[in-house]
Amino acid sequence: MSQRTLVLLKPDAVRRGLVGEIIGRIEAKAGWSIAALELRTLEKATLETHYAEHEGKPFYPPLMEFMVSGPSVVLVVEGERVIEGMRTLSGPTDPIAAAPGSIRGDFGSIVRENLIHASDSEESAEREIKIFFPSQA
Ligand code: RTP
Ligand code: MG
Repeated sequence: MSQRTLVLLKPDAVRRGLVGEIIGRIEAKAGWSIAALELRTLEKATLETHYAEHEGKPFYPPLMEFMVSGPSVVLVVEGERVIEGMRTLSGPTDPIAAAPGSIRGDFGSIVRENLIHASDSEESAEREIKIFFPSQA
């Protein structure tokens, strides 16, 4: 089933020059393609909408500070089972627990600075694509 998902390459990925490496892994998946892509410093208001489910949690304030600390790359990726597939490619939230071979497992060591976001369900993907690319909705 072809799907679309919202992907963010977080400020640490951009700062560390890992954009090409990560996009290369996405492009290498058979049949997946990039439907939208932009380097963008995210607005606080946009991030508040995106991460609304985490408001009030202890990690929320430092997460927001980190997410506005520099530009991110915002993408829509399209393809067969891409929602589940991008989560697998990324690895679990904690990069130390993430398997080598995954993006977080290969490049991360800090839970907050875990390089990448990918929508976690069809509902999230639809909601998040509208937040970051209102014209694509
Ligand atoms: P994301 O939403 O960014 O794709 O990541 P996720 O689903 O794997 O993780 P989630 O639970 O939604 O958390 C969102 C982001 O908040 C930061 N975080 N820090 N304990 C902590 O310090 C902590 N927990 C989460 C991470 O950047 C995580 O990706
Ligand atoms: Mg999440």
